[in-house]
Amino acid sequence: MLIYANGVWVEASQAVIPFQDQGFLYGDSLFETIRVNQGALFRLEKHLERMRSGMQTIRMDAESLLEDIPNILGTLIAKNQIISALIRVMITRGVSDNLAEDEQPQPAIYISARAIGELPEWPVKVIFVKEQNYPILRFHPAIKSGNYLGNMLAKKDARTVGAFEPVFVNRDGYVTECAIRNIFFIKNNILLTPAVELGVLPGVIRDTIMELARKRGLKVREALIIQNEVASMDEAFISSTGVGVLPVYWEGFESDYKHSQILRNDLQELFKSGKSYVS
Ligand SMILES: Cc1ncc(COP(=O)(O)O)c(C=O)c1O
Repeated sequence: MLIYANGVWVEASQAVIPFQDQGFLYGDSLFETIRVNQGALFRLEKHLERMRSGMQTIRMDAESLLEDIPNILGTLIAKNQIISALIRVMITRGVSDNLAEDEQPQPAIYISARAIGELPEWPVKVIFVKEQNYPILRFHPAIKSGNYLGNMLAKKDARTVGAFEPVFVNRDGYVTECAIRNIFFIKNNILLTPAVELGVLPGVIRDTIMELARKRGLKVREALIIQNEVASMDEAFISSTGVGVLPVYWEGFESDYKHSQILRNDLQELFKSGKSYVS
């Protein structure tokens, strides 16, 4: 697999990141995971928009790198003859050592790809965990930064007790999102998902699912959902670029996943078509 390491095409195993890069040292970086279906990038513009928003928030001036991304991705797909994959784009603050007081580091960009893993059998188990027990970064609009320590720690704890993903509950008792996925519920034919005002990531798949649900005649609400409410939900699923729609359960929860299955199939069909838009 040839990857792009800040201007150089290199075998993944040979790629080098400078030790003094702020992304490596401090998590001072942004990243995106972009899906390729049938050789086509899924909703690239949405990913670039989210990265641009993150850059504004962390005051990183790397617009020219952002503009280069579509071309680099095209080359990556061609060089590696990619049909389907998850592409990771990472922009770091760059190397800040030995700079004069008024000098800014030069941001650096790294782009790689990996195969889309086998999906687990659904429903998968989730556990609800308190954000206050983890170093979680919440900000609105959410930043997809290299600071995923709390997310990874919660994921590890979830795995330890046999769960696929943790679902975070914030200090006010509201459900927010998973470690690396968004969460949805369905109740009385209404699709519900935690509002972005809570600092949850506006997932590219989250947006797509809301479009597919509207097309299916479901009402869609971005809402404030307290943990006590989830017991009365009819269905639940998580979403991300990697897993699409994945129905979930927690201790004591049962569902027929009627709507979740339809949305899951609709999304799979969209992926299979290689298109980005819901027609
Ligand atoms: C915290 C978090 N929430 C949600 C998502 C899902 O986002 P997307 O649908 O763009 O993959 C991710 C993806 O990495 C994530 O890290």
